[in-house]
Amino acid sequence: MLIKPHQQLRGSLSIPSDKSISHRSVMFGSLAKGETIIHNFLMGDDCLSTIHVFRQLGISITLEKDTVYVKGKGLHGLSAPLAPLDCGNSGTTVRLLSGILSAQSFSSTLTGDASIQKRPMARVITPLRQMKATLSAKEDRFCPLHIEGGHLEGIHYVSPVASAQVKSCILLAGLYASSPTTVTEPFISRDHTERMLEAFGAKVTRLGTSVTISPCEELYPCEITVPGDISSAAFFMVAGLITPNSDLTIRNVGINPTRRGILDVLLEMGGDIKILNERLVCGEPVCDLRVRTSSLHGVTIEGATIPTLIDEIPVLAVAACFAKGKTLIKDASELRVKECDRIVAIHTELSKMGGAVLATEDGLIIEGGKPLHGATLETYHDHRMAMALTIAALNATSPSQLLGEECVRISFPNFFELLAELS
Ligand code: S3P
Repeated sequence: MLIKPHQQLRGSLSIPSDKSISHRSVMFGSLAKGETIIHNFLMGDDCLSTIHVFRQLGISITLEKDTVYVKGKGLHGLSAPLAPLDCGNSGTTVRLLSGILSAQSFSSTLTGDASIQKRPMARVITPLRQMKATLSAKEDRFCPLHIEGGHLEGIHYVSPVASAQVKSCILLAGLYASSPTTVTEPFISRDHTERMLEAFGAKVTRLGTSVTISPCEELYPCEITVPGDISSAAFFMVAGLITPNSDLTIRNVGINPTRRGILDVLLEMGGDIKILNERLVCGEPVCDLRVRTSSLHGVTIEGATIPTLIDEIPVLAVAACFAKGKTLIKDASELRVKECDRIVAIHTELSKMGGAVLATEDGLIIEGGKPLHGATLETYHDHRMAMALTIAALNATSPSQLLGEECVRISFPNFFELLAELS
């Protein structure tokens, strides 16, 4: 796809629904007894993989425009799948499912595309084995993941990584365990599982960076409205800030405190972003954002902030290229095990455009202010790389060629159409 530099982005837009919340609403709805109705569901490939997998597990799920009806059969109502469960590109589907399936009375196999088969699974296998689950995996750490369901025991797991997928996997297994289960993280990761499980009737308590779940008899169905995804809004936030003469209003953006790191960091960088109409939608804080062209400056991002913006680092790196001075991103080695090694991908592609980007073991050092020029850019089949590079290319001094842009379907199917409407 050819991307030409562009001068201004103006208007208002609604970004797609939150991917993490959409996944969880189908999963918990399937485990509740009765009908869960999900409005504003994200019809991206990853969330469709979750629907597909739960259908294979015997759950009736129907779609009508952007509303999903899930006929949950209760915590013990899933049935044995007839074939391996294909989770596509979705790490959230594999890891959360591994916790649920470890407690079932049947065996199952989780797998996915080439990228999923390279992503680390020892991080869920290790705690699940401590809970007495029986699992095997390729080289003991990659998909396909074979799970013999059975009885589970509660544990206190001190996780070496701040990962909502790991935390959620253990909490979901904990619903079925014979005693309470606690997860302690180095920093708090996104808490949609805790919020939504409580709404479905589970007993969840939090203390500092620890979460405890009690064994559960039954989950109760809910009616859910999924807010817009701040991870998708991030591309338009950065685009609005760095593209000359821009003024964008982004409606219905989820600003859960465990997710809003990108907003706080862009404000700290000097971004002109106004937070408007703050409200609560189904227990999640939501707002509209007005974003105008700004002169940004570099910042240091590290520690507890990293999990609150982990998926936004590719586009944050683009913002840093257009900011005055140095941006330092540390403590972000998790970037190496996302849909691709995002430290390598960001470094390679932004360097091709003339960006002053250095890769470190656990992050990036970016010296901003050097104009970017057009280049032939790889997406690594990674939706967030594709969208971040598009925003960089819009602001380059010459056209770019983006290869493999169709992967945006994973989380933001209408990304290019929306961008064209605002241009
Ligand atoms: C997600 C958690 C994060 C994030 C991913 C979605 C979730 O992954 O990167 O896109 O929905 O729980 P980790 O848990 O591996 O940090």
